[in-house]
Amino acid sequence: MAILYQEKERIFTLHTNKTTYQMKVDEFGFLLHLYYGAKLSGNMDYLLTYYDRGFSGNPSDVGSDRTYSMDVQPQEYPGLGIGDYRSSALIIRNTDQSYCCDLRYKSHTIRNGKYALQGLPAVYADDSEAQTLEIVLEDAVSKVQVALLYGVLDQADIITRSAEIRNCGTGSICVKKAASACLDFVEGTYDLLSFWGRHTMERNLERQEIGHCDHVIGSRRGTSSHQYNPAVVIARKDATEDYGDCYGMVFVYSGNFMFEAEKDQFEQTRVIMGLHSDILHYPLKQGETLVIPETILSFSNKGFGALSSQFHRCIRNHICRGKYQHQPRPVLVNSWEAAYFNFNGETICQLAKDAAELGIDMVVMDDGWFGKREDDNSGLGDWQVNEKKLGCTLGELIQKVNGLGVRFGIWIEPEMVSEDSNLYRKHPDWVLQVPNREPVRGRNQLVLDFSRKEVRNDIFEEICSILDQGNIEYVKWDMNRSIADVYSIENSQGRVAYDYVLGVYDFLENLLQKYPNILIEGCSGGGGRFDAGMMYYTPQIWCSDNTDAIDRVRIQYGTSFFYPVSTVGSHVSAIPNHQTGRSVSLSTRGVVAMAGTFGYELDLAKITDAEKDEIRQQIQQYKHYEELVREGNYYRLSNPFQDEYAAWLFVSEDEKRALLNVVMLAIHGNMAVNYVKLKGLCADAVYEAIGTGKQYYGSALMQAGLPMPVQQGEYLAYQIEFIQQ
Ligand code: GLA
Repeated sequence: MAILYQEKERIFTLHTNKTTYQMKVDEFGFLLHLYYGAKLSGNMDYLLTYYDRGFSGNPSDVGSDRTYSMDVQPQEYPGLGIGDYRSSALIIRNTDQSYCCDLRYKSHTIRNGKYALQGLPAVYADDSEAQTLEIVLEDAVSKVQVALLYGVLDQADIITRSAEIRNCGTGSICVKKAASACLDFVEGTYDLLSFWGRHTMERNLERQEIGHCDHVIGSRRGTSSHQYNPAVVIARKDATEDYGDCYGMVFVYSGNFMFEAEKDQFEQTRVIMGLHSDILHYPLKQGETLVIPETILSFSNKGFGALSSQFHRCIRNHICRGKYQHQPRPVLVNSWEAAYFNFNGETICQLAKDAAELGIDMVVMDDGWFGKREDDNSGLGDWQVNEKKLGCTLGELIQKVNGLGVRFGIWIEPEMVSEDSNLYRKHPDWVLQVPNREPVRGRNQLVLDFSRKEVRNDIFEEICSILDQGNIEYVKWDMNRSIADVYSIENSQGRVAYDYVLGVYDFLENLLQKYPNILIEGCSGGGGRFDAGMMYYTPQIWCSDNTDAIDRVRIQYGTSFFYPVSTVGSHVSAIPNHQTGRSVSLSTRGVVAMAGTFGYELDLAKITDAEKDEIRQQIQQYKHYEELVREGNYYRLSNPFQDEYAAWLFVSEDEKRALLNVVMLAIHGNMAVNYVKLKGLCADAVYEAIGTGKQYYGSALMQAGLPMPVQQGEYLAYQIEFIQQ
């Protein structure tokens, strides 16, 4: 049993393979957090301390005892107005306009299987793999109930948390702030590892100490954003890639989020993950419920590498779904960087011909095939094929492509509309826009109000009528702006941002139900919505609009802290690179793109015969490694922000096969040798390096490392396969 309840002590213990999480209902009904970390035995309520702390409030239940204060006690789900002056997990405006929320234990249930969330993506698992604990807390006056949900996947070392806010009172209330997880640490100094970025430079790792202030990261952009990824690591000061205690928190949501970390007056640390409170004002009438998106928690005492591996498995096996979850993904060539808007049917057919010749599985026709769409200023929303531009119907084009032995995929951006479009002219009231104000434009486009079913249904039918025109096997679902005009003519303002995201999920779910064989790749100007929420619907996401191999090793490094390689869209593009102007060899570009769902993003007609030969070989090589890359264990072997090289390794589950990847980031005269130390091998086994035939013990490769060649040339890459003998 992963979840234990001790009736007398009212202690809940959640055990996974290597971790323990414990909480207790105290004599006043408060749900106190006792412990989360490496597995242990016993009741941890002895950690709770009680002292008279000046200016910390005492609940009336304790009478004249000044040593009991919620300002000090570690809690599972702190509310406002109970004498806890730290950040709250929940803020509600009650019917009487007060903000007080005093949550006490009411009941609990333990059941087999993992809970699901209405309208939201969440970790899923078989009944044999997971258990659910539901603890209901209640405010005795407002009758607001909060159901705290805990999912325990013991073998995966994963604990998920979510909350359902239920208005069981008689009047209307408003949810102003709501989190799915709060963790209180009674001692220790912690660092926050967060992943900030911008368009074409996502998920840069930043490590900072959690000090005596409220550290807040998040998104108000309507999407999870390029700027901050909804996933963080909380690490003990001494934790490193291979050593030490660290906690990961991944928010399974694709909209506005907020993460807070605070060290309080008694050196205790509180971290909270939930919806962003700035744009939340969610009304709940009597009997209504708001479901807060899930946070996935995991702990490791073996550093960031082990923590990442726990998240990779969880996302690969318990978030990603569908036909392609554990299947090879097509090697594709995408028309975007090949031709941008400047293509016709012939261009696509030529791309397909070249693809067939090179062994590329699929051609993806990116933006520009519909409506009046010669650039990015018009046409969005008019999902009618521009047959004049293609020179044929979509069905005929697909037949031609398929006739060449190449599969066909297409780009869409269903959430958007251009003002210069028939859809906008017909339904100007379908966009998110504040009355009497000019809209904020992004890429000269507006956002459709996906919180409205009528709007979603219309676009759904348009998209289906495209997908029904031929054998479309892949869809790239894009979303190319941040949301600014958060106003719906139909839905109350404080709920639009949340309802919008649920609308997107609803659309995607319906699409998957109707077209279970189509592979959907997510995208939002590259990696602007690269989150576990989207991965529930789209098992791969275009990782960044930056295809420069050297920038990409850094972007993919940050991405790898939580997200498995099987979710990372990565392509070889032309040189000089379109985003940076940098030129890197085809071989290096190939090695970097192979740390993802491999493909190409260039005009195959413009490359030399020698390059064609190399691409043919590259694809064969990728197919040879594909399963190892997709399902193998991934190890970071360097920090490309600091080291002279970027190195990463894939090792098969049975440790029999490994693939080392190294990209040199620096070159100097008379350079010192870099020794790359491998990980995750069987120490006592002998491995042969394919190609050189040299043999090494696993222990040698891991402890002493492998010298990298000192060779002239910038950004050289090495890929070495090792087979256990
Ligand atoms: C976004 C995507 C690109 C491409 C363009 C098309 O920027 O990230 O890959 O699809 O849109 O307009």
